[in-house]
Amino acid sequence: MRVAVAADHGGFRLKMAVTGWLKEAGVPYDDLGTFSEEAVDYPDQALAVAEAVRSGACDRGILCCGTGIGVSIAANKVPGIRAALCHDTFSARAAREHNDANVLTMGQRVIGPGLAEEIVRVWLSASFQGGRHARRVGKIAQIETKYCRCGVEEEK
Ligand code: RB5
Repeated sequence: MRVAVAADHGGFRLKMAVTGWLKEAGVPYDDLGTFSEEAVDYPDQALAVAEAVRSGACDRGILCCGTGIGVSIAANKVPGIRAALCHDTFSARAAREHNDANVLTMGQRVIGPGLAEEIVRVWLSASFQGGRHARRVGKIAQIETKYCRCGVEEEK
């Protein structure tokens, strides 16, 4: 499994911790920035991770910002992305088992590194349960199909 990781300035230190944990665990990852605490716009980092996952370059993504909210909202605009904001391990497990979340988001200003490490560990190891959950995730994809006209120009 290859993981795309990115953060804005508000999540930069948490992202550095996340890449450290992935390295220790032997999980391959692509660090897509940002690379300092200089202010950037979180939708740019969210898009980079979302596109890496959507294209198949990476299997999963982890995004950090101050709250985890902005990157979650932005990443979820990309069809096929199911980004879950998790600040507890129960949600992290459920995000995989029930929602097949392919992107995890966290807020550096919300949780400490100890809890974040546990959330990452649980989220990476939990598996989608399928069954009734697959039907529900399929309905999420149907919503995308209904409202997303990717690359299609508006009809005149
Ligand atoms: C940046 O100050 C902050 O707004 C951002 O990191 C994030 O919390 C947005 O949702």
